[in-house]
Amino acid sequence: MKVFLVAGARPNFMKIAPLVEALRARAQAFPELETMLVHTGQHYDSRMSDEFFRDLDMPEPDIHLGAGSGTHAEQTARVMVAFEKICLEQKPAMVVVVGDVNSTLACALAAKKLEIPVAHVEAGLRSHDMRMPEEINRRCTDIISDLLFTTERLADRNLLREGCSRRRIHFVGNTMIDSLHRHLERALAQPLPASLDAGAYGLLTLHRPSNVDDPATLRGLLQAINQVAERIPIVFPAHPRTAQRLAGIPLQDGLLVSEPLGYLAFLGLMARARMVLTDSGGIQEETTVLGVPCITLRENTERPITCSMGTNVLAGTDPRQILEAALRVLDSPLPKNRIPEKWDGRAAERIADHLMIWLKRRSTDRRSQARVNRRRPGEAIAQPNR
Ligand code: UD1
Repeated sequence: MKVFLVAGARPNFMKIAPLVEALRARAQAFPELETMLVHTGQHYDSRMSDEFFRDLDMPEPDIHLGAGSGTHAEQTARVMVAFEKICLEQKPAMVVVVGDVNSTLACALAAKKLEIPVAHVEAGLRSHDMRMPEEINRRCTDIISDLLFTTERLADRNLLREGCSRRRIHFVGNTMIDSLHRHLERALAQPLPASLDAGAYGLLTLHRPSNVDDPATLRGLLQAINQVAERIPIVFPAHPRTAQRLAGIPLQDGLLVSEPLGYLAFLGLMARARMVLTDSGGIQEETTVLGVPCITLRENTERPITCSMGTNVLAGTDPRQILEAALRVLDSPLPKNRIPEKWDGRAAERIADHLMIWLKRRSTDRRSQARVNRRRPGEAIAQPNR
């Protein structure tokens, strides 16, 4: 019984790593189980992929699809074609996808059309903004998934409202936070760059097409950040998409642009930052658990629990509002954070338990089906003793 665990892009790796470990640990008790890690190749630069595998102690992928970049349709289609081929060859009993990137939807769709059951980890999150490619990916993946593993109770309610049966939904917690718990100590052991003091710098990430593809929007955002960088240094590990667009934009000396960072280096920087500015989804969750103030440079979030319980503030994309929000954070004491329910480092264990129950049931069903098929026509079915 093969289970494919699929990852394709940077934010997938920390979500899938704890699942690889939890499922492989169960193989002894269930020898039929074979877990295979599939990398779609959506992210391929060493700093966007290989470094994460090393930092997260992940085994090499069993299968690499090498899909690469392209338009949304090209990328999604390339992953689908390659993934369908390996599904036909390997015949997995289950495909597990995580998050909301193009690889998530592509693999879910290819598998489902081959009648292979699909489990979606991080199901039910909704920004209610259909201009976001991730929102389209999330909704389409959820509709076709057999098992929906959620990170917060609001996600369950979103799914129920959309007509998913309760039977498919399991509130398990957050596997990205499993990775954080597991690796935080090692991340904190990484030395800070000489020019930075713990608690006295900011950290910036920007990669969302709506923020970086239009030169005027990106320039406006960076003007606001430049002003914040006059107060404290801000480290800016730039995503390749963003790095390509920085030329010609004036940057303050205090804004320290770097290459993308690996998992441990980034987590170590984030955990000791005075504040994080980001348009990422996952970073809103990580800062919530770390108790680091987060200013989200977006108009909406699919992770509202990070605002209601955590340290996250939605500042939008208006440069004046971003500057105001950042200065307010710098002039206030650190906010109190609460840890959302089940973000306790054990989400992957819960998912693995659900998957095992599901797979064992399927294995038993298959055996009884095989027995029925082997019976000759007209042969009586043995009746239990009365
Ligand atoms: C993708 C996800 C986004 C996630 C982000 C994290 C989708 C729709 N988007 O966006 O949800 O937050 O990953 O990074 O799936 N590139 C490289 N090297 C790489 C990867 C990308 O140079 O290893 C460059 C290419 O020019 C590429 C561009 O970055 O065209 C964008 O990459 P892509 O995977 O299409 O989307 P992301 O913006 O990374």
